[in-house]
Amino acid sequence: MSSLKLKTKVKSLRGEITVPGDKSISHRSVMFGSIAHGETIVTNFLPGEDCLSTISCFRKLGVTIKEDGEKLRISGNGYSGLTEPKEILDVGNSGTTIRLLLGILAGRPFHSSLVGDQSIGKRPMTRVTVPLSKMGAAIDGRNNGCYTPISVRGGSLAPIHYELPVASAQVKSSLILAGLQADGESTIIEPVETRDHTERMIRWFGGEIKKDHNVIKVKGGQKLTGTEIHVPGDISSAAFFLVAGAILPESEIVLKNVGLNPTRTGIIEVMEKMGADLEIVQQNQSQFEPAGDLVVRTSNLKGTVIEGKLIPKLIDEIPIIALLASQAEGVTVIKDAEELKVKETNRIDTVVHELQKLGVSIVATDDGMIINGKCKLMGGQVSSHGDHRIGMMLSIAALLCDDEVQLDQSEAISVSYPNFFTHLDKLSR
Ligand code: S3P
Repeated sequence: MSSLKLKTKVKSLRGEITVPGDKSISHRSVMFGSIAHGETIVTNFLPGEDCLSTISCFRKLGVTIKEDGEKLRISGNGYSGLTEPKEILDVGNSGTTIRLLLGILAGRPFHSSLVGDQSIGKRPMTRVTVPLSKMGAAIDGRNNGCYTPISVRGGSLAPIHYELPVASAQVKSSLILAGLQADGESTIIEPVETRDHTERMIRWFGGEIKKDHNVIKVKGGQKLTGTEIHVPGDISSAAFFLVAGAILPESEIVLKNVGLNPTRTGIIEVMEKMGADLEIVQQNQSQFEPAGDLVVRTSNLKGTVIEGKLIPKLIDEIPIIALLASQAEGVTVIKDAEELKVKETNRIDTVVHELQKLGVSIVATDDGMIINGKCKLMGGQVSSHGDHRIGMMLSIAALLCDDEVQLDQSEAISVSYPNFFTHLDKLSR
């Protein structure tokens, strides 16, 4: 585990970067390429640890995937081209890999075993194992199927009519991937709309899925056909520099080709509401996902309330939004975000604990946090706790510190943004 002395006392951030490919879309490009018929070529793939775990699992399931950095060539043979793995499928740190993969394996007539790292071992899996078992899959795992290690023996699936108890794109996508193999039409109802990359991708691969607000209908037995995918930049990675540009003095950052899917742009809505100097300078529809260039400049920010339907649109950005709020005038309240407790770490506790160490006035609540701005940051010894987004948030916080900041478990950052520090160096003045 590596400890890193972070860059501090940065005067300003200026310049242009292209953030790496979107993590959610990169995972799905490997999965859909593997279950489609024919070749899928992926460009601007994110070669972060999480997405590499997805590639490794599908190779163990018999799929040929040629990988050359950000370019993939996947040879799919449909769902039935997947074969019983001889080895354990290791998902590493990736919740998206295990939950979506369980949906695929639920319909495959063979046995597989899935494990992950320590963090995955604490994340709840019953949210997918219960509905997938209802569809007919035989799934078991530690603590009555709740945690890894998990074993699956898939088979014929009945369609499901299911109201999700939590707003989760991973659960929705898992059930869609099982529904595509079921004997009939499945109906999945979300409490609040979540990221819709799976639905968009099914259509891009020539499949059909109906969506009426929160109600999704998908038929089993569809044939998906291999295609070309250009992955847009990850708005969740861009978020670190959007916030950094807004809170550092005399800064201006241009972020190129950032994914702007409306189910992911909550960070932009919140920053605008807080008074950030943020512009979308060019917008284009790249294939099946909107994208564009963003410019952010040093901003005078004010506190806000973040709650309700907005939460799923910015769930992964809450750690960096907490730092943003610490540099805004007044109070910011984040509510309805209990899901943070079951992310890579309990992100309510880790954000509050680590930011308090740097001098931020922040308290945890049952479903979020309350942040009092505007705080002067001190130095200190902090830790990512193995959570990539906590590591990057603390690295941005350090830029404002006068004293030394040491980050423990800094290696976690490569899960989603392997060249994060190269970009930070490039922009720092
Ligand atoms: C993701 C969905 C979200 C998000 C995660 C990626 C996805 O998780 O936090 O980083 O790719 O579907 P939940 O579905 O658990 O909310």
